[in-house]
Amino acid sequence: MIGIKNSYYLIDKQKYVRYSDSNKFIEVEIYMERLQKVIAASGITSRRKAEELIKNGKVKVNGKVITELGTKVNNSDEIEIDNKTIEKEAKEYYLLNKPRGVITSTSDEKGRKTVCDLISTTARIYPVGRLDYDTTGALILTNDGEFANILTHPKNKIDKVYIAKLKGIIKGEQINKLKNGIKIDNTLVKASRVKLKKVNPEKNTSLVEITIHEGKNHQVKRMFETVGFPVEKLTRERIAIFDLSNLKSGEYRKLTPKEVQIIYSYKK
Ligand code: URA
Repeated sequence: MIGIKNSYYLIDKQKYVRYSDSNKFIEVEIYMERLQKVIAASGITSRRKAEELIKNGKVKVNGKVITELGTKVNNSDEIEIDNKTIEKEAKEYYLLNKPRGVITSTSDEKGRKTVCDLISTTARIYPVGRLDYDTTGALILTNDGEFANILTHPKNKIDKVYIAKLKGIIKGEQINKLKNGIKIDNTLVKASRVKLKKVNPEKNTSLVEITIHEGKNHQVKRMFETVGFPVEKLTRERIAIFDLSNLKSGEYRKLTPKEVQIIYSYKK
């Protein structure tokens, strides 16, 4: 069979292939989400009630009753509850310039302000990855799980560019250690680029731009601490193609359809 270049073909229930530029069919990973999560995201009911509906045999996927809670579905699956097809929530995408003192979460048991509180929408958006309470800068929020997955998966090598103000004057030797790899949580993480921007000998501080592709908890702070430099201040200047131009602290904007398409093109 010969296909149309860059078109997608369904060859099995959950298997797609893409006909590539080099005239080959390449298997494509399909992003799947748990059925109860998709039902809850449609706004019909809570996730817990969705689980009861599934267990009670009220939910069909592509015409078939599903009672298994672990079942995963993709965006094109038809979901019915009591024989009525549900409308899936429209996808929304935002870029926020996160201020200091806001938590990167959808809710907080201590009642602190979250990044979701800063965005005016009724969609069930969530932050992609995490910036610490005291870290500022570029943060994406969306309700599109596949989009979030592309941005966070290390295999896609998405740039996360930070500016760190360090206590102490960093030297080439320590910068090389960051580039060669540092062990965090028993895995090796590397800075893909490190640029020394400024040193202030009077205040004993350094300003460094660092680019990473992973998103481990407190990764940048832990990398610098491992080479002996506590981070005093941290800002994410860019994630993928999204920088902070024209966004003041606390401001946000919607991503354009073209920008969303560009991120989808990064999927490996
Ligand atoms: N690395 C950190 O240490 N903190 C952040 O907020 C982001 C990356």
